[in-house]
Amino acid sequence: MLIAQLSDPHIRPFGMLYQGLIDSNAMFAAAVRQVNGLDPRPDLVLISGDIVDDGALQSYGTAKALIADIQAPVILIPGNHDERDAFRRSFGDNADLPNSGPLHFVAGNYGPVRVIGFDVTVPGQHHGVLDDAACNWLDRALSVEADRPTLLMMHQPPLVAGIPYLDDYRCFGGEHLASLIARYPAVERVLCGHVHRFMQCRFGGTILCTAPSTTTAIALQLRDDAPPKSYLEPPALLLHQWRQGTGVITHFVPIGSFRGPFGFA
Ligand SMILES: [Fe+2]
Repeated sequence: MLIAQLSDPHIRPFGMLYQGLIDSNAMFAAAVRQVNGLDPRPDLVLISGDIVDDGALQSYGTAKALIADIQAPVILIPGNHDERDAFRRSFGDNADLPNSGPLHFVAGNYGPVRVIGFDVTVPGQHHGVLDDAACNWLDRALSVEADRPTLLMMHQPPLVAGIPYLDDYRCFGGEHLASLIARYPAVERVLCGHVHRFMQCRFGGTILCTAPSTTTAIALQLRDDAPPKSYLEPPALLLHQWRQGTGVITHFVPIGSFRGPFGFA
């Protein structure tokens, strides 16, 4: 089973630029073309939050139009830039979303791997929180078909990465999540967005990775006093392939067209 992960497209109303500078809509459209050009095609496409930049219904209208070009089923979670009710109204047909509260869901009908959408956002805040209610919901979800290979998708990573302006906005309460996931070895990955960079680390007995954004990259700076910055680095997506007996292999795929192919020996 082949699963592409796009993240943090920060879609804006048609014709408007992200932060007044960057055409995030065109960059997302390029990411969609890249996904559609993969051979074989993915069985499923994930978008790990910050679907739109401002939470407005008008932006979700643009997002729906751009996402409709993806030639595979799409499931997506909200991020801190999304607005839950507008998100629910716009994408309620993509998954069995609850009518109120956090937008948790289980997507199990796309192949052998199930994806759990886990909403750790806090309305009006940039950081995320794992509270008891969220952990209890996840425990119940994981206990059903506990042996089934599972990807857990959440927006804010529960990490202290050493990049100060990212760590302030992490998902708090990660130690509870780590101990919970450690009880479910079929969790192949914890997949996050939010940080607009690729990172991976051990977490709760599995692997956690964060996806790059389809638009700007948040600066990699490891000094405690580093000021927040972002750059227009080459955007990228992640491609997760699951095989029976192997589990999941994650590929980092730059978005764009590049010179080649060349031979090698
Ligand atoms: Fe973002």
